[in-house]
Amino acid sequence: MRESLKAALTNSPDNLPLLILYAQACEEDLEFQELQETWEHVLTLSPMHEQARCGLINSFYLAGKLSEAAVRLEAWLAEGPDYAPAYILASRIALADGTLEEARVYYDEGLKRDASVSDPGLEQTLYPEGRNTEEDDPMTPEEPQRMTPFGPISMDREGDEPPFPDFEAPKLNFQDVGGMEALKEEIRMKVLYPMENPKLFEAYGKSVGGGVLLYGPPGCGKTLISRATAGEINANFLTLSLHEVLNMWIGSSEKQLHALFELARQHKPCVLFIDEVDALAADRRDMRQSAGRTLINQFLAEMDSSHEENDGVLILGATNSPWHIDPAFRRPGRFDRIVFVPPPDEGAREAILNVMAREKPVEKMNFRTLAKVTKEFSGADLKALFDVATEEALTEAMKSGRVVPITGKQLVKAAKKVKPSTSDWFASAKNYAMYANQSGLYDQVLEYMGLKS
Ligand SMILES: Nc1ncnc2c1ncn2[C@@H]1O[C@H](COP(=O)(O)OP(=O)(O)OP(=O)(O)O)[C@@H](O)[C@H]1O
Ligand SMILES: [Mg+2]
Repeated sequence: MRESLKAALTNSPDNLPLLILYAQACEEDLEFQELQETWEHVLTLSPMHEQARCGLINSFYLAGKLSEAAVRLEAWLAEGPDYAPAYILASRIALADGTLEEARVYYDEGLKRDASVSDPGLEQTLYPEGRNTEEDDPMTPEEPQRMTPFGPISMDREGDEPPFPDFEAPKLNFQDVGGMEALKEEIRMKVLYPMENPKLFEAYGKSVGGGVLLYGPPGCGKTLISRATAGEINANFLTLSLHEVLNMWIGSSEKQLHALFELARQHKPCVLFIDEVDALAADRRDMRQSAGRTLINQFLAEMDSSHEENDGVLILGATNSPWHIDPAFRRPGRFDRIVFVPPPDEGAREAILNVMAREKPVEKMNFRTLAKVTKEFSGADLKALFDVATEEALTEAMKSGRVVPITGKQLVKAAKKVKPSTSDWFASAKNYAMYANQSGLYDQVLEYMGLKS
């Protein structure tokens, strides 16, 4: 196994999934030097790769370099990573090089983050009498838990840090978004330039606040370009899923919503990304009930750009069905700019394919042809195409017992099997665009469909 992986790596030495498989094989074969070098290589490609950071430290631990392992791990844990296996490793190192008490604390920390990392052998050593799961088991909380958009918060933690995770620092920018030049320019015009030159815009009586609503078929990069926008303006990025806010206990949803907007305001400059904006309008029957209506009002009040606190908070919304959104959402100062995100054009498809190929053993090839024959494919469809081709290559690999690269032929064949999912969206969008196109709201869709020039 290890030998055939090694052979595959000579063809694509920077293939991350392959490197990870190879590292696992090295660990099984107790090749610690090779193990260490492999993880180091992964880290040169992806410096924050948690599995690799943990793997590298583990390679020192396995090779008996205890203090080196302990020092490196301590430095990492000081950053407070949320990676459960790191704590299990810390527990093992503490057991070898520290106290039992320490080892137990780390072990519990690990399980608190992810119960599936439990290790019965280690646990037996740490708790020969059995671990008191009644009290400690994270899976059976004593206190009622409440969902926030980021997971459960415990109700008994008054005065603690806010129950929200760290903000996502900008990682992507427009260079990570393939093609879509027209859309990028539009976002620059509507978002970046105003933020850079607020005075200039004011001089022309244009407001800088408010939000931008991105709409279009699923899987075509709305989320991606929002993240990338945060990177372009060097802002933090926070996602708010309305479905999750709505699923929270009625009555506290408003409070949570307010807390989220406040959090964004405290972390300026910040892109607050609101996914599934239509959720607030999707089920009108529910929404007309007072609870839903208060939530909508709360949302609109938070958004209003007269809310001067929102300076420096860019609100980006995304939806697949803008026609279900209450027109009140589109008033000035709210989602007053509406932008269509079309399926990736040929250049974007080529770029997306190149990104996807990086993660798999693929024959070296030029993706221009494949990009040409995948008209109307979304990013998600292209991924499906890769999955189909991967399965075929994997079947061959199973038969021959070695890694067989995915071929261009298999990909083109797969392209014929996958039906682009954007056609359904355009079928219904067409009706709205033709018959409910108030003030040219959906002109961009009509233009894209060649129904308007
Ligand atoms: N222009 C692009 N360049 C690179 N990758 C892309 C591009 N467009 C889409 N993708 C990829 O396609 C996938 C789907 O994109 P994304 O999640 O941003 O779509 P979405 O429009 O937010 O979909 P949904 O409406 O379902 O939320 C992602 O994995 C993304 O990386
Ligand atoms: Mg999305």
